Amino acid sequence: MSFANILYEAADRIAVITLNRPDKLNALNHDTLVELKEAFSQANGSADVDVIIVTGAGEKAFVAGADIKELSAQDAVKGQRFALFGQDVFSAIEQSAKPVIAAVNGFALGGGCELALSCHIRIAAENAKFGQPEVNLGVIPGYGGTQRLARVVGPGLAAEMILTGDMVDATEAHRIGLANKVVARGEALPSAREMAGKIVAKGQPAVRLALQALRCVPQMGLREGLATEAALFGISCGTDDFKEGTAAFLEKRPPAFTGK
Ligand code: COA
Repeated sequence: MSFANILYEAADRIAVITLNRPDKLNALNHDTLVELKEAFSQANGSADVDVIIVTGAGEKAFVAGADIKELSAQDAVKGQRFALFGQDVFSAIEQSAKPVIAAVNGFALGGGCELALSCHIRIAAENAKFGQPEVNLGVIPGYGGTQRLARVVGPGLAAEMILTGDMVDATEAHRIGLANKVVARGEALPSAREMAGKIVAKGQPAVRLALQALRCVPQMGLREGLATEAALFGISCGTDDFKEGTAAFLEKRPPAFTGK
């Protein structure tokens, strides 16, 4: 599939998906969401990709939210479908078998914050601003913001952000656990690439099994989560990369992982 609103490039086992509507601050219209889902499906299905990065085109915005023009045309019935579709796309990202890093290079508002929240890791440039400003428009977050923001920063801070619509800057986002780290302006994507490169160098079965265990956290209680971890640990012990990784350590040499 060729994309109109997205740039897709893959090299060095890293796919970079760039939301590319900079004149609209990369706002997510329906067509862009369709393309975003397809791009993730392509990256997940590619044998040449181990890590996926998502970012926004231009220096100003990661994603400034759902497209407000399209949003304004919703009614009570269409609005629910509108939300369910965005949730479906973001849940597919969250459930990605390969790690997803958000390189937040500017505004991450509304659907942009929700997109970042559906990624496994968030790196913020110092000019990034996160927020759920939907109440300013008389609407509530619909692409998972109420649920995922509360899980990431806790219910009190999520309530403050969602009920006031106030943005938080990159430093505050880092302080409250919304951003993994803050880097200089223009450095979010290079920093995400650097982190992705570290992940690419590991045994990929272990990376994916670890991610699978982490993805269970919001869905499971501790007892069930621990049982899942043990089962996945057992699977990782059955891989060639486990044999290679442990043998390499004991033989004092770097591992040569094969991804099997
Ligand atoms: N949907 C559609 N278009 C959007 C958009 C959105 N969510 N956010 C920005 N744009 C468009 C603007 O309409 C403008 O288009 P135009 O040049 O054709 O008029 C362009 O992007 C640039 O935005 P502008 O508002 O001029 O930039 P700014 O630097 O003055 O302000 C923001 C930046 C992010 C503070 C401001 O654009 C904003 O508040 N956007 C909406 C954020 C929001 O409420 N998101 C949640 C939606 S549910």
